[in-house]
Amino acid sequence: AANSMWGGRFASGPDAIMEAINASIGFDRRLYAQDIRGSRAHAAMLAAQGIISDNDATAIGEGLLTVLSEIEAGNFPFSTALEDIHMNVEARLKDLIGEPAGRLHTGRSRNDQVATDFRLWVRDQCDAATEGLHALIRAALSQAEAGADWVMPGFTHLQTAQPVTWGHHMMAYVEMFGRDVSRFEDARRRMNESPLGAAALAGTGYPLDREATAKALGFDRPMANSLDAVSDRDFALEFLSASSICAVHLSRLAEELVIWSSAQFRFVSMSDKWSTGSSIMPQKRNPDAAELIRAKIGRILGATVALFTVMKGLPLAYSKDMQEDKEQVFDAADHLLLALAAMGGMLSDLTANRANMEAAASSGFSTATDLADWLVREAGLPFRDAHHVTGSLVAMAEAKGCDLDDLSLTEMQSVHAGINQSVYSVLGVHNSVASRQSYGGTAPDQVRAQIARWKEKLA
Ligand code: ARG
Repeated sequence: AANSMWGGRFASGPDAIMEAINASIGFDRRLYAQDIRGSRAHAAMLAAQGIISDNDATAIGEGLLTVLSEIEAGNFPFSTALEDIHMNVEARLKDLIGEPAGRLHTGRSRNDQVATDFRLWVRDQCDAATEGLHALIRAALSQAEAGADWVMPGFTHLQTAQPVTWGHHMMAYVEMFGRDVSRFEDARRRMNESPLGAAALAGTGYPLDREATAKALGFDRPMANSLDAVSDRDFALEFLSASSICAVHLSRLAEELVIWSSAQFRFVSMSDKWSTGSSIMPQKRNPDAAELIRAKIGRILGATVALFTVMKGLPLAYSKDMQEDKEQVFDAADHLLLALAAMGGMLSDLTANRANMEAAASSGFSTATDLADWLVREAGLPFRDAHHVTGSLVAMAEAKGCDLDDLSLTEMQSVHAGINQSVYSVLGVHNSVASRQSYGGTAPDQVRAQIARWKEKLA
């Protein structure tokens, strides 16, 4: 049988395979609440403008609420023949209220309808991501507060570089997650314009009030160009891009947690709640949650690349290619939010092992730079020469199998005569971090100032 929505010019219905490739109801049913909200706003506006009668608008509005409750109760008869959520809702509305249902689509197309629904959905995801990030930031902040002066090795190339504090390391992620928040907020602000009323692509001859529907749906204003309104998916691309960057940050922290929880590091202990065992090796405690968070960037970036690839080269205005936007965004959003929640929980329940971190910071010649700086300051050497002298001292200590502060003063003086007893004070890791007082540096005072700035920002 020909389609009930546009059957007029068709003699037969679609091939079964056509129906399978064409239908989106299997996934776009997730937009039901946004679709009904948009339709209710549209119907109310049509009546306010005298385009349909108040009675019809009331019947439509109430009928749509019945549809909403049927879907929420799980007894809505979804139909693949009706392609997508838009036509499923409208067909059911017709069953429920009869003729007035046919007036809902006046001055509207599925093109502006789907663009509206999807914007509303992605807008909610921006808010959810922001919320998840705030919880995660709070978890990192309390770790930072507890360990503002706990010394750990800082790394470059994953080789011991200079001592830093646990608080400083945590606050580095707070900064990254803070920028992620601003990216989602920024994307949300830009996407918050209404496509509704753009109709198929050219606008419409009906005297629609696009300001009114924009306002009813919480948008700041109607989109200014009807072609753009139905063609644009950059709001989804921005959401995916912000998600990808955020997922990279999550992945890097997850990787550090995997390394730090290993028997070779033991910087952190993960709570039982976030660990798994092995079915064969009784001693195992595996950081599966961290590993899965580390992996999420794969699918999130995959979704981002997929939608960029779908959109490139599409002529204006709507093409059915754009129906492929939804599954990518749904999947990316679901997994980003799950990863954010898991990281927030894991970090809250994590124990940082102060003694192990401090012991690791004290080995590996982590204060060699402090020694070179001492030679500049106290012995008046140019930094390059100080670097060379220190390198010789490190080689000496390495040959003896000891740390820098285990070398005797005589041994040090054999490399450079200007060295005296006071050098030992800069070789300790606590003195090292305390000396890094530059703005944003790892000195505990600086770390506490960073924490205070963030707490103020969040309050
Ligand atoms: N299901 C469609 C989508 O997700 C709705 C828009 C259909 N528009 C059209 N001209 N066929 O993109």
